[in-house]
Amino acid sequence: MTVIAQNLVHRRILLIISGGIAAYKSLDLIRRLRERGADVRCILTSGGAQFITPLSVGALSENKVYTNLFSLTDEQEMGHIRLARDCDLVLVTPASANIMARAAQGLADDLASTVLLATDKPVMMCPAMNPAMWANAATQENIATLKRRGIRFVEPAVGDMACGEHGTGRLPDVPEIVAAVSDFFAVNGPLRGRRAIVTSGPTHESIDPVRFIGNISSGRQGHAIAAALAGAGADVTLISGPVQEPPPAGIHVVRITTAQQMLEATLKSLPADIAIFTAAVADYRPAEAAAHKIKKSGDDGISLALVQNPDILRTVATGNHRPALVVGFAAETDAGIEDAKKKLARKGCDWLVLNDVAGGKVFGQADNTVTVLKNSGKDISADSWPHMSKQDVARRLVSEIAEAL
Ligand code: CTP
Repeated sequence: MTVIAQNLVHRRILLIISGGIAAYKSLDLIRRLRERGADVRCILTSGGAQFITPLSVGALSENKVYTNLFSLTDEQEMGHIRLARDCDLVLVTPASANIMARAAQGLADDLASTVLLATDKPVMMCPAMNPAMWANAATQENIATLKRRGIRFVEPAVGDMACGEHGTGRLPDVPEIVAAVSDFFAVNGPLRGRRAIVTSGPTHESIDPVRFIGNISSGRQGHAIAAALAGAGADVTLISGPVQEPPPAGIHVVRITTAQQMLEATLKSLPADIAIFTAAVADYRPAEAAAHKIKKSGDDGISLALVQNPDILRTVATGNHRPALVVGFAAETDAGIEDAKKKLARKGCDWLVLNDVAGGKVFGQADNTVTVLKNSGKDISADSWPHMSKQDVARRLVSEIAEAL
């Protein structure tokens, strides 16, 4: 199952690029992995270097490119054993029939094969070759051997080949490889086995069949947090009010409209280890929603009787199935840290993420400036984060959650 492709922050990927026309796709792969925050270091085999240059690999990875086992300078800077182990995943793309055969045999006659023999890290291979080479029993037996030893494979696609033939052997599209890498880290992520609930977006409270009380929350921050949690391996339920933001893939999404529905959906999703309340819940709803569209009558104004909505965060934080970590958000136009500390205590949450929404900042924007308050039980600390994208806020928050749990 494809989870998401957003969980690669600080992941160290050692990319081995072997020979084959598909080597050019590894340049795009480097970009896509880095866009998602991965640190990519590359080994270019002599076969790979027939198709792309160390210069382009180095420029895109912004890292030194390793090519030669017997380079004295390389060995002095980073020995091949350290190169093999100083990463979270060894990714071989494209994996030629030749490198798979050498890996299956345990040969160590160049840097790439030596690293494959010396590494104690997980290895993933994305084969690409001519269909006859792929179908050859020798290749298939080598792959079976490698699979038996725990090496992961992203299977080649069927299609027209650069050599003019048609069949199985095409390198899968780059997004598919990124998703496979992403899934690998999600399944092995720090929050695997943890359940998380995230509320996101606004709620709409009906006045009549065509009108409602609501707010301009876009759901961007909440959705990004849900995606980052899933990326770290958590089993995530996203309870979302009406938003345009597409739901992240691989996440259980419950769509609601009103605060009362959000409360019900949240309670139904318990128990959980983590609950993050990013939703901008309407504090009040009309005491009664009119069954028919309210007509204008006379020149006078009308008044709308409102009743208070349930406080979802407070209900969960003080309830029977309280998650181990409860995180609230506070969108304020003029509150200081002291007010935020009071809100944290009043709501009963462990952490409170304060964002300044004065002047239309934050709502609907791509980035955010937050201060994160944490209740240690003894005191409440406040940490102001630099201005960053909502994705980065999500990633950092999730990495701090993983540390805290
Ligand atoms: N929240 C909630 N249910 C509500 C209102 C708020 O779960 N009915 C959650 C929000 O998702 C957020 C936190 O409570 O995580 C703080 O929201 P905020 O609107 O700042 O809190 P209020 O209690 O409404 O405080 P204020 O009176 O300052 O608006």
